[in-house]
Amino acid sequence: MNICIIGTGYVGLVSGACFADLGHNVICIDNDKKKIKKLKKGIMPIYEPGLEELVRRNLKNGRLKLGSNIKEGVKASEIIFIAVGTPSKENGEADLTFVENVSREIARSMTSYRLIVEKSTVPVNTGEWVEHIIRVFKRNKAVPFDVASNPEFLREGSGIEDFMHPDRIVIGVKSKKARAILVELYKGLNAPIVVTDIKSAEIIKHASNSFLATKISFINAVSNICDKAGADIVEVARGVGLDRRIGKEFLRAGIGFGGSCFPKDLAAFMRISDNLGYEFGLLEEAQRINYNQKRLVVKKITDHLWNIPAKTITILGLSFKPDTDDMREAPSIDIISMLRKEGARIKVYDPEAMQKAKALFKRDVEFCADPYRAAKNSDCLVVVTEWNEFKDLDFKKIKKLMRQPIIIDGRNIYDPGRMRKLGFTYVGIGRR
Ligand SMILES: NC(=O)c1ccc[n+]([C@@H]2O[C@H](COP(=O)([O-])OP(=O)(O)OC[C@H]3O[C@@H](n4cnc5c(N)ncnc54)[C@H](O)[C@@H]3O)[C@@H](O)[C@H]2O)c1
Repeated sequence: MNICIIGTGYVGLVSGACFADLGHNVICIDNDKKKIKKLKKGIMPIYEPGLEELVRRNLKNGRLKLGSNIKEGVKASEIIFIAVGTPSKENGEADLTFVENVSREIARSMTSYRLIVEKSTVPVNTGEWVEHIIRVFKRNKAVPFDVASNPEFLREGSGIEDFMHPDRIVIGVKSKKARAILVELYKGLNAPIVVTDIKSAEIIKHASNSFLATKISFINAVSNICDKAGADIVEVARGVGLDRRIGKEFLRAGIGFGGSCFPKDLAAFMRISDNLGYEFGLLEEAQRINYNQKRLVVKKITDHLWNIPAKTITILGLSFKPDTDDMREAPSIDIISMLRKEGARIKVYDPEAMQKAKALFKRDVEFCADPYRAAKNSDCLVVVTEWNEFKDLDFKKIKKLMRQPIIIDGRNIYDPGRMRKLGFTYVGIGRR
């Protein structure tokens, strides 16, 4: 099938490359011309495992094309995916201006039937607005079209695997034709397809992300009880998660969630619920707990360092999670800012996100080439992102390098007993 994807970011690029690999003809469009120019040379704008090879392969076999002109993409394709960003406004509402702009341009470029699919995460009722915009701005009023919702559930860091092996595919449609096209499009994937109306599909995405975020906040709240009672959250989470009705995923206590999706989608779901007349207090609490986890880490640091001014603190991990260089809403940002305000000197290391982080932190932090240089002369080492390479460091060496051997393990990746045996003051999140 011929597909156009507008917005060549994490979702658009991964989806486009995967659709091409499944045998479809794909054109990925982005108005960031620099990004497209680099991509044409095989240079990835993001770090995502396996993506470079997938993109290069499909560019070479001609199934994946790249461009900056929406008209060209709409002309060549029957299915048009909208995969642009839907960032948060100050009040938490989703900013849908990119979606509107793109819809208008699609409308102006359509000369025969097109299926326009929302892949961006959008609040309920966006489909109706997209349909309205297309109807108003279509040059030839007789040209038929459909709008559909097909939210994306891939996770950064395992985007390709998630796209190719999804738990489910959600399709929100109004017409049999749109349904048939999308079912055919996903024929190559072995996953249950949930076909529903557009509004329900839009809510499925917001509800899924909000549920997962709430699950993280729930276990973080329990970890606070463990801290105070002297219990161990890892054992508690295992005991709770083995109940199949609950499940063990997303029950890892830590610094909390960040990234381009959970904080934004939680806020947007709260706002749209509010606008519709339902106050979603549960989500507000999940958001509050999440923010407090970052403050808790700072408190744990001050509890062990006494005064912060002029102390050197090492931050291991900057990206919002491992296997990505995405810094959007990364907990490291708030934690570093809180510590800087207290007067700390910060040394950081991240395997992939340092380039993006440099634009954010500028000279406020010292970027180090490896974890050992970051630990040198440090008073406290804080694990903020659970990259695999941090799990197996040479701790004898680290202990010698540090001024004070204190580890705040914000992701509970180390065994407390082992760390204490090595001579560290070890502080986890809810660990005995
Ligand atoms: N990142 C994820 O893991 C993830 C997962 C599921 C869903 N989503 C959702 O998918 C959407 C996209 O997220 P992302 O992380 O890929 O964003 P992103 O910022 O990485 O990419 C969006 C791209 O859209 C482009 N764009 C904006 N306006 C445009 C226009 N008028 N014409 C052409 N291109 C335009 C931008 O230049 C950018 O490259 C969001 O709604 C997000 O919530 C993201």
